[in-house]
Amino acid sequence: MYFCFCMKKVYFDSAATTKLRPEVIDCMTQALKTEYGNPSSTHAFGRSAKSLIETARKEIAEILNVTAAEIIFTSGGTEADNLALNSSVRDLGVKRIITSKIEHHAVLHTVHALEKHHNITVEYVDLDGCGHVTLDSLETLLAESDQKTLVSLMHVNNEVGNVLDITAVGHLCKKYDALFHSDTVQSVGHYKLDLQETLVDFLAVAAHKFHGPKGIGFAFVRKNSGLRPLIYGGEQERGLRAGTEPVHNIAGMNEALRVSYQNLDKEKAYVTDLKKYFKETIKKAIPTISFNGGCDDLERSTYTLLNVCLPMSSEKGMMLLFQLDLKGIACSKGSACQSGATGGSHVLNEFLSAEDLAKPSLRFSFSSFNTKEEIDYVVASLKELCEA
Ligand SMILES: Cc1ncc(COP(=O)(O)O)c(C=O)c1O
Repeated sequence: MYFCFCMKKVYFDSAATTKLRPEVIDCMTQALKTEYGNPSSTHAFGRSAKSLIETARKEIAEILNVTAAEIIFTSGGTEADNLALNSSVRDLGVKRIITSKIEHHAVLHTVHALEKHHNITVEYVDLDGCGHVTLDSLETLLAESDQKTLVSLMHVNNEVGNVLDITAVGHLCKKYDALFHSDTVQSVGHYKLDLQETLVDFLAVAAHKFHGPKGIGFAFVRKNSGLRPLIYGGEQERGLRAGTEPVHNIAGMNEALRVSYQNLDKEKAYVTDLKKYFKETIKKAIPTISFNGGCDDLERSTYTLLNVCLPMSSEKGMMLLFQLDLKGIACSKGSACQSGATGGSHVLNEFLSAEDLAKPSLRFSFSSFNTKEEIDYVVASLKELCEA
């Protein structure tokens, strides 16, 4: 039984952005209070801020098993994606990009711009019926051209949660002498990555997806890549990304990553259990519901999100997010950045049947801050709305 005396607030939209951890807020507050020197200044205030940044760089690099020089701080995932893709074309002689139609728009729109303005050939890998990239089609594409190629494929899809074996992709890229960029915005902080085993040339990461602050992220850029800056100005980030560094954000991101990996096994088990519980409970409550993407195979579907297709007309579905919002429930239709867009999800459009596309699909994404009681509330609310 639920009462509306004070509205319940339930946050199931962690793929859009996550709640800050208290440790991160403390760490950032401390940095804001004490580290106000410009890290490029040579006096003690500046040196202290610089030292905080370089410690963060070193600690982040250790987590990924790379060197500190290979971590370039950016304003977030979008900038890191743009840096890797644009520089590969401009500075590294890339003439052809292989990607998928279900990448985040930070990749897709950049690739479209490169195709239009730089005459780059763009090829798309095939997807199977669940929206998984087929590695056979990637290998076929890699084998059929001698043009300098960059492969850009995301690790964890932000809308349906499909997980790609990026270690296998890295080996294929090596075999065919292609560069490999992966958008790991939804996976870093949630999956362990050892970049000595996973042969990527570039990665994009955003702190706000792992309980860190917004407006900060990093690009991993493999040593001696030849990559040049996107943003020119001062000599920050060894000349690869100009602009005074946001010291508090970098400190917060480092703390968020540290705590995420320290608690990874425990939190992964907890959130996996929440996802299973959500799936079972909602299937029981609404038996004709279906799940989008490859979510039956937990190895190939991230534990952090579930995308559901509801047995409801599109007319009824139009009001669904609004009705859930009235009940204090936050989830999303797809990527948060597309919430103002028309035409539905570019991801679901690639592999759902016309019949399923006509029904409303919702993305619920979880974190260790969620509980089973919240799931019970969401499931009861969805059942009520489906039956109304
Ligand atoms: C897969 C993916 N790539 C890139 C981005 C963009 O990251 P940012 O918001 O840090 O620019 C997002 C954020 O929604 C994302 O989910």
